[in-house]
Amino acid sequence: MKTEVAIVGAGPAGLLLGHLLRAEGIACVILERQTRAHVESRIRAGVLEMVTTDLMRRLGLDARLRAEGMVETGFNLATDDQVIRIDLAALIGRHVTVYGQTEVTRDLIAAAPERGLEIVWEAADVVPHAVDGDAPYLTYFTGGEAGRIEARFVVGCDGFHGACRKAIPDGEAFDHSYPFGWLGILADVPPCHRELIYANTADGFALASMRSPTRSRYYIQVPLTERLEDWPAERLWDELARRFAPLAERRVTRGPALEMSIAPLRSFVFETMRHGRLFLAGDAAHIVPPTGAKGLNLAASDVAYLSEALIACLRGGDEAGLNGYERRALARIWKAERFSWMLTKLMHRFPEDGPFEHRMQQAELDYVAQSRAMQTAIAENYVGLPL
Ligand code: APR
Ligand code: PHB
Repeated sequence: MKTEVAIVGAGPAGLLLGHLLRAEGIACVILERQTRAHVESRIRAGVLEMVTTDLMRRLGLDARLRAEGMVETGFNLATDDQVIRIDLAALIGRHVTVYGQTEVTRDLIAAAPERGLEIVWEAADVVPHAVDGDAPYLTYFTGGEAGRIEARFVVGCDGFHGACRKAIPDGEAFDHSYPFGWLGILADVPPCHRELIYANTADGFALASMRSPTRSRYYIQVPLTERLEDWPAERLWDELARRFAPLAERRVTRGPALEMSIAPLRSFVFETMRHGRLFLAGDAAHIVPPTGAKGLNLAASDVAYLSEALIACLRGGDEAGLNGYERRALARIWKAERFSWMLTKLMHRFPEDGPFEHRMQQAELDYVAQSRAMQTAIAENYVGLPL
């Protein structure tokens, strides 16, 4: 098979990139390791920056997003006894939209056939070759058959555990782990608050989020040693009820878990996002702790930059965008990493922290409560810095 751009991975990065390229008539193919059903069943985050919703609108793929997405003009930071509302609309005139990443993925996959975006599902053992030359290609297996795709460019959108970053021989990695994970639950119960609440409570961090007026998404921080089998839903509902009772408009409504999971938190950046004709975008190149809701949105900004650069090169012979992609993407990535790291440190109880560190967190939140300048700084990072 021959194409212009071969993409590895049908997550948000790969799918958005594929659609952006197809919108300009660029031939591209996506190789995805999993089945379509598996990809469409993954439960991930749910806050979209305007950068991301703008891309969906530009692609004409935002009908369901506009109909079902919840526009959030503010969100809340809380401690045990105070709720600080960050008024995004009043402070910076922008907002975020609550709409599950799962739904974004489904919308992009559903539109692929009509847009001529080919996705090869269950593509096993994808390996990039000859990316140093001008005729890179991918080999893979599907249905037991060997496959080969020759392309002008290869883009690794294959996430943190993908194959493409590993194909880059050099490259500097920056890695930071956190001493806790997030235990999450998804349930068809009405949210306890009409906006998100990030709470730093005496019992630890808790997040009240949602997918719709009838579907809630909650998280609490848990030690890294915790196992899912230690957490029947009732135990988590008890914990959430205790932490949000003094903070939320309504009590936490309980219900059967549609999904429960424990995920570790990590900050990671791989500073080589290009090697010859191989580029990286999204989680393949960086990971953020979910506190700042940046994961999906950084994937979107990476591919906004990269699609522009690939189109300029393939249709106009101009390689400046490709040569500048890494620097431009990393400038935004590192600022999102900083914001996510800062908010994680502010809102979680670290095992090694003592009374002084707790006072520092309390003082910073008191300052946020009183300072329009601090609230504005948080607001402009939360909605996403300009491209
Ligand atoms: N070959 C082919 N496909 C692969 C391979 C491989 N070797 N390895 C991984 N994949 C696929 C995965 O199955 C997944 O569908 O690549 C896709 C990567 O998608 P994501 O991990 O979602 O990464 P990305 O598209 O960058 O989106 C980042 O997704 O995981 C969340 O929190 C993350 O919100 C962030 C967003
Ligand atoms: C979610 O709804 O899954 C969610 C929201 C905000 C975050 C992380 C996750 O910061």
